[in-house]
Amino acid sequence: MPRGFYIKTMGCQMNAYDSDFLAQSLINFGFVPVNSPEHADVILINTCVVRAKPEQKAYSFLGRVSAIKAANPRRFLGIVGCLAQLKGAQLLKRFPQLDLVMGPRELYRFPDILERIDHPSGKVVATGLNFGPPGHAESQGYFHGKVSGYISIMEGCNNFCSYCIVPYVRGREMSKSPDEIVAEATNLLSEGVKEITLLGQNVNSYAWQGQGTRRWGFPDLLHELSGLSGLLRLRFVTSHPKDLSDDLISCFGTIENLCPHIHLPFQAGANRILGQMRRGYTREDYMTLIQKLRTVMPDIAITSDVMVGFPGETDDDFDQTLDMIHRLRFDSLFSFNYSDRKGTIAEKMGGKIDAMTKASRLNTLQTIQQGITVEKNKELEGKDVEILVEGGSKREGQLSGRTGTHKIVNFVGNPNMIGTLLKVKIKRSFFNSLWGKPI
Ligand code: SAH
Ligand code: SF4
Ligand code: F3S
Repeated sequence: MPRGFYIKTMGCQMNAYDSDFLAQSLINFGFVPVNSPEHADVILINTCVVRAKPEQKAYSFLGRVSAIKAANPRRFLGIVGCLAQLKGAQLLKRFPQLDLVMGPRELYRFPDILERIDHPSGKVVATGLNFGPPGHAESQGYFHGKVSGYISIMEGCNNFCSYCIVPYVRGREMSKSPDEIVAEATNLLSEGVKEITLLGQNVNSYAWQGQGTRRWGFPDLLHELSGLSGLLRLRFVTSHPKDLSDDLISCFGTIENLCPHIHLPFQAGANRILGQMRRGYTREDYMTLIQKLRTVMPDIAITSDVMVGFPGETDDDFDQTLDMIHRLRFDSLFSFNYSDRKGTIAEKMGGKIDAMTKASRLNTLQTIQQGITVEKNKELEGKDVEILVEGGSKREGQLSGRTGTHKIVNFVGNPNMIGTLLKVKIKRSFFNSLWGKPI
C-alpha cells in the first residue's frame, strides 16, 4: 500500500503554488494524495497570516490534525507557509505533535526532509529567508489533466505597506532566472497545461541580470513566455500601482495570448489614507493608470483589493473609497476589514476603528460593488465570447470555462472540449458567473 499525504492550503496563490511543489515532491517519493487527513501518513498545513481570520483558522486546523496524529504517532505532521515563518519554534511548544515548521523560503529543502522521513533525527524548524521560491522543472505527470498552472517568478516584498505582514514573513524580493521560469513553463505545457499565471507579490518589480547578459524586466519575461508553443493564455498577479510601467501596459496591446485582465489593488480612495498606508501613489495616479489601461485595451477587466477601517479612516475618507468604486466600475473587488497585524507600522497607529463601523462600511461597499458587478455581467448578455474550457462545473452534465477577462462561464458541452478555446454566446448573467451556449 502506498503511503498517503494530505495538504491543507490556506492563503493566496503563492501558497497554492508552494503546495503544488510540496505535492509533487511527495509524489516523486512514492506518496499518493488522499482526501482526508485521517487517511494520511503525511499531513501538511500551508498557512496564511495576512489577516487575523486565516491565522485563527490555521490554529484550529492544527488542533484538529494534532489529535489525528496523537491517535497514530507514526504520522508526520508539518506546518509550512506564513504562520510557520512568523511563529517558528514557538509552534512546537503549543503543538508538540508537529514534526516540521518550515517557512516559505525554506521549502526548496522539503525533498531533503522527505529523504530522511523514515529515519527522523528530531524535529525540524526552518525559517531562513535567504532563498527564492521553489521550482519544479520536472513534475512527473502531476499536471496531467490540469488546464491551468501557476509559476512563482519571484518571492518576497520590499514595499512594507504599513498594514501588511507579508514582507516580514516572505522576506525581501528575489527573482527567479528567466531560464528557470522558461523551463518550468515548458514542463507545464508538456504535461498539457494551456494557461499559465505568473505569480509574485509585486510582479512589476521582477528583475534579473545574469553574468554578462542583459537585464530582464517583467515585460521582457512576458514577451519571452508568450512565444512558447502550446501556451493559449498567459496571466499574472499581482501588480502594484506604483510600479505599473507604460511598458507593461503596452503589453496588453501587443501580446496576443496575454489575457485582457489586470488585478490592481487600490486599497483606499483617500489620499491621506493612501499616504498612511505607504502605498506610494495617489487616487489621481491610480485613476490615470486605469485610463491608460482602458485606452490600450478598452475591454480590459480590472479587479482590485480594497480595505475599510484603516486606523484613522473617517466617514469622508470612506466616501472617497466609494467614489473611486463608482467612478472606476471594477469588474469585481476583494474587500476586507482592516485587521491589526503585530509588528506592522499600522498596528502602532492611533485612531483604530471599532468592529461595528468596519462591518457596516464593508457591507455598504460590498452592496455597491455587487450592483456594479451584476450590471457589468449583464452587459455581456447576447455577446459572443471566447472561453478556455477548464473542466466540469458543479452541476452534472455541465462544463465550465473562463473568459479572457477571468469571468466564469457555465454551459452544456462535451468533456473533450476541456483544454480548448471555445466560442460561446452569453445567454444569462449572474453575480458570480455567466451562462453560455457554444456557437
Ligand atoms: N501584494 C499584494 C497584496 C497581498 S495581500 C498587493 O500589494 O497588492 C492581499 C490583500 O490583503 C491586500 O491587497 C490587502 O487588501 C489585504 N490586506 C493585507 N494586509 C491586510 C490587513 N492587515 N488587514 C486587512 N487586509 C489586509
Ligand atoms: Fe503587502 Fe504592500 Fe507588499 Fe502587497 S505590496 S505584499 S500589500 S507590503
Ligand atoms: Fe497569506 Fe502569506 Fe499569501 S500571509 S496572503 S499566504 S503571502
